Amino acid sequence: MPKATTQFVCSQCGYTSPKWLGRCPDCGTFNTMVEEAVAPAAPVKSKLSRPALSRPIPLSKVEKEHYARVSSGISELDVVLGGGIVKGSLILVGGDPGVGKSTLLTQVAAHLAKEHKVLYLSAEESCSQVKLRCERLHLDSDNLLLLNETCIENAEESFYDAEYVVVDSIQAVYTETLSSSAGSVGQVRECASKLMRIAKSRGITFFIIGHVTKEGTLAGPKVLEHIMDAVLYFEGERTENFKILRAVKNRFGSVQEVGVFEMTGEGLFGVTDYSSLFLSDSRGIAAGAVVTPSETGNRCMMVEIQTLMAKTAYGLPRRMSLGVDLNRLIVLIAVLEKRCGIPLGSQDVYLNAMGGIRLSEPSSELAICAALASAEKMIPVEKYTAVFGEVGLTGEVRGVNFADKRVNECLKMGFKRVILPAKNMKACERFQDKIELVPVTYVSQMIKALF
Ligand SMILES: Nc1ncnc2c1ncn2[C@@H]1O[C@H](COP(=O)(O)OP(=O)(O)OP(=O)(O)O)[C@@H](O)[C@H]1O
Ligand SMILES: [Mg+2]
Repeated sequence: MPKATTQFVCSQCGYTSPKWLGRCPDCGTFNTMVEEAVAPAAPVKSKLSRPALSRPIPLSKVEKEHYARVSSGISELDVVLGGGIVKGSLILVGGDPGVGKSTLLTQVAAHLAKEHKVLYLSAEESCSQVKLRCERLHLDSDNLLLLNETCIENAEESFYDAEYVVVDSIQAVYTETLSSSAGSVGQVRECASKLMRIAKSRGITFFIIGHVTKEGTLAGPKVLEHIMDAVLYFEGERTENFKILRAVKNRFGSVQEVGVFEMTGEGLFGVTDYSSLFLSDSRGIAAGAVVTPSETGNRCMMVEIQTLMAKTAYGLPRRMSLGVDLNRLIVLIAVLEKRCGIPLGSQDVYLNAMGGIRLSEPSSELAICAALASAEKMIPVEKYTAVFGEVGLTGEVRGVNFADKRVNECLKMGFKRVILPAKNMKACERFQDKIELVPVTYVSQMIKALF
C-alpha cells in the first residue's frame, strides 16, 4: 500500500485521522477536520550535523533593515498601507464579490509594471478578460505579464522572475500536496504559507486577493491573516459607487487609516472629500438623531442612533430598542431623569441603531443620552457633531478605549465637533487643531454643550 501523503487534523484539538470525519472522535466538535500534508519524517541528526547555534544579541547591536517603500500609484492605497508598498511583504486584499478587488489590483499592477517586473496570476479570469479590463481602464500595461494558472507549483517558476506578483485569488489556486479541492481551509492555508516562503526567501512582494464569507470575515482560516504583513478590507455595496478600503492589520503602518474610492467606468479613483458622502440629508433637521463612532471588530464606523418619543397612551410607558440592549436603554432613561432632570416617565421611547447594526459597546451610551435629550427637547443635534463616552449610574461620563481612533474616524468622515469624555482628552490632543473637541465629565455638561 502506498504511504499516505496527507492526513486530517482536527483544528480544535489536533486529533489526526487518515480519513475525513464529520465529528472529531476526540473532542466531539463537528466539521473541524482539515486536510494537511504529512511532513516527511526528519532524519535523526547527530550533534555535529546540527546548524550553528544562534546566540542572543543585544538590541543595540541588531542591524537595522531599511524598508524601502514604493508608491502603488494610487495615493489612497499608499495611505492605507502606511506610506507605500514595502518590498517583500504579503498584502491580502479581502472584499465582497464584485466590490472591485481585481480592478484595484489591476490598476496597481499596471502602474508598477512601468518600472518593475510584475506578474498577474489570474486564476479566476482568462487572460483575455484581464486584457479587456485593462483596455476599459485605459491602462498602459504592455509590460505587465499575465498568467492563467490555478496550480501553484506550475506558477512557481514564473514567480521567481517577477518583483511583484498579484494572486487573484487565493481561493482559486491549489497546491498538489493536498488532494482537497481549491478553496478549502487546508488548501488556502497551504497555498498561503507556500507564497510566504517564496516572498520571504526571494524578496518578492505579493498582493493576494481573498474572498469574504457571508459573515464578512475572510474566507479560510484565521491563520491566513497571521501569515500576512498587511490585511486590507475593501468594503462597499455593489450598488453604491463609493468603496472604503481599510487596514485590519499592518506590520508596517497604522491601522487607523481608511481610503475612500469611487468606482467609475474608467476604474477606481481616490476620493479626498468625504464630508458630503456619508451624511444623510435629513440629519441635523430632525430631532433625536446623533452619530457615534463605534468600534466593532477592529473597525471603527460612524453609526447614527435615532430615537422617537410619543406620549404614553396607557398607564405604563413603552420602551423599545433595536440594535441596543433594552436594559441599557432603560438605565440611561433613568440616569437622564434623575441626574439631568429630563422627564421621560410619561413618554414612550423608541430607539434604533441605523443600518441594523448591533451596538454592544458602552461607548455609545453618551450618544444614546444625547439622542434621547434631543428628542425630548425637540431640538436637532448639529449635523457635524459626533458623541461618544460611557455613562455611569451617577451621571458621570467615563473614558473609553480607542478614543484617538474614534476621533480620527470622525475627522476622516468630515465631522467638525466631537463631544468626548474628559478622561480621553489627553489621548486626542493631537487632533485639536483639526477638529473641535469638547471634553465632558457629566451627562448634564454634554446636554449643556449640545443645546
Ligand atoms: N463598464 C463598466 N463601467 C462601470 N463599472 C464597471 C464596468 N464594468 C465593471 N464595473 C464595475 O466593476 C465591478 C467589478 O469589479 P471587479 O471585477 O474588480 O470586482 P472583484 O471584487 O474582483 O469581483 P470578484 O469577486 O467577482 O472577482 C463591478 O461590480 C462594477 O461595479
Ligand atoms: Mg475579481
